[in-house]
Amino acid sequence: MKIEGKSYKTIWFENNSVKIIDQTKLPHQFVIKSLKTVKDSINAIKTMEVRGAPLIGATAAYGLVLSIVENSDLSFLKKSSEELIASRPTAINLKWAVDRMMKKLNGINEKDILKIALDEAKAIKEEDEEFCKNIGLNGLKIIEKISNKKKDTVNILTHCNAGWLATIDWGTATSPIYHAHQKGIKVHVWVDETRPRNQGANLTSYELNEEGISNTVITDNAGGILMQRGQVDMCIVGTDRTLSNGDVCNKIGTYLKALSAKDNNIPFYVALPSSTIDWSIKDHKQIPIEERNPEELSHVEGIDENNEIKKIRIYPQKSKSLNLAFDVTPAKLVTGLITEKGICEASEKGLKGLFK
Ligand code: MRU
Repeated sequence: MKIEGKSYKTIWFENNSVKIIDQTKLPHQFVIKSLKTVKDSINAIKTMEVRGAPLIGATAAYGLVLSIVENSDLSFLKKSSEELIASRPTAINLKWAVDRMMKKLNGINEKDILKIALDEAKAIKEEDEEFCKNIGLNGLKIIEKISNKKKDTVNILTHCNAGWLATIDWGTATSPIYHAHQKGIKVHVWVDETRPRNQGANLTSYELNEEGISNTVITDNAGGILMQRGQVDMCIVGTDRTLSNGDVCNKIGTYLKALSAKDNNIPFYVALPSSTIDWSIKDHKQIPIEERNPEELSHVEGIDENNEIKKIRIYPQKSKSLNLAFDVTPAKLVTGLITEKGICEASEKGLKGLFK
């Protein structure tokens, strides 16, 4: 998608380094950063210079490429893969991408390993782009239906950033919105600010603005009243890990939006590529929920009148904080899963029907 009219992807490989858009600087500064070592990749994932399940996966895949550039010793590669997987625990795409790379590289000789690693990382990247595009084409049908019935602007609520900045291109939750907009369907997006990191306000609103899509930032608690007032036609969110039974793990606060949508009879969709499905665990209590630095809660960051990024404390130093980054929305609250292969019920039957 575009930034200031120029097309970008979120990650690419150039001159033996990995280029990323540093998302910790957005929306105030647009900075392209070079990752030169596997440590740089791990750090970019940990500090959220890159974030969003599919992009974390692609960054980890390219991290292994950088690991081979640095040192082609197999024990170094193995250590790198373990450190990458441990860098953020919840989004399954990270482990999925590392496992896929390591499987591909297993038994490959030193002469060929770099090329094969690069090809596989590129395949992961291109596949995600294609899958997100198809998620959009599938989700478009839902928006079209609402638009035809309503004959007015379709109001869509989203949480966190599941936009193109969280993927390679298109996004997951935003892809149907971008496709609808390109087709001339009138859409407006309610953007949850998504405390504490404000991915909604900082990233979703930013990328929608750059594509000329009407959007309004709201506090995380405003969704309920908007739904009661009939100002939300549907919700679409992303996911960091969806279980085979249809339970959806996503950014903290997603669950409350789903409860509110259910209470107000509003369709609640989750958009995901198949790389986000965890077929291995059955119980959501087994999902590792990331607990992040309390400073993300106690401090806010913004730009001052001199265009300088400043961080300030907003509550007493003595106060305790708990910063859980994700929650789980039970399948029963999800209207449907929008995937690259089609839309299905949030259930084992639904998912297995699409992914044999
Ligand atoms: O903590 P983040 O910013 O990596 O969380 C991102 C989300 O929760 C997204 O909604 C998610 O990765 C969906 S996939 C595009």
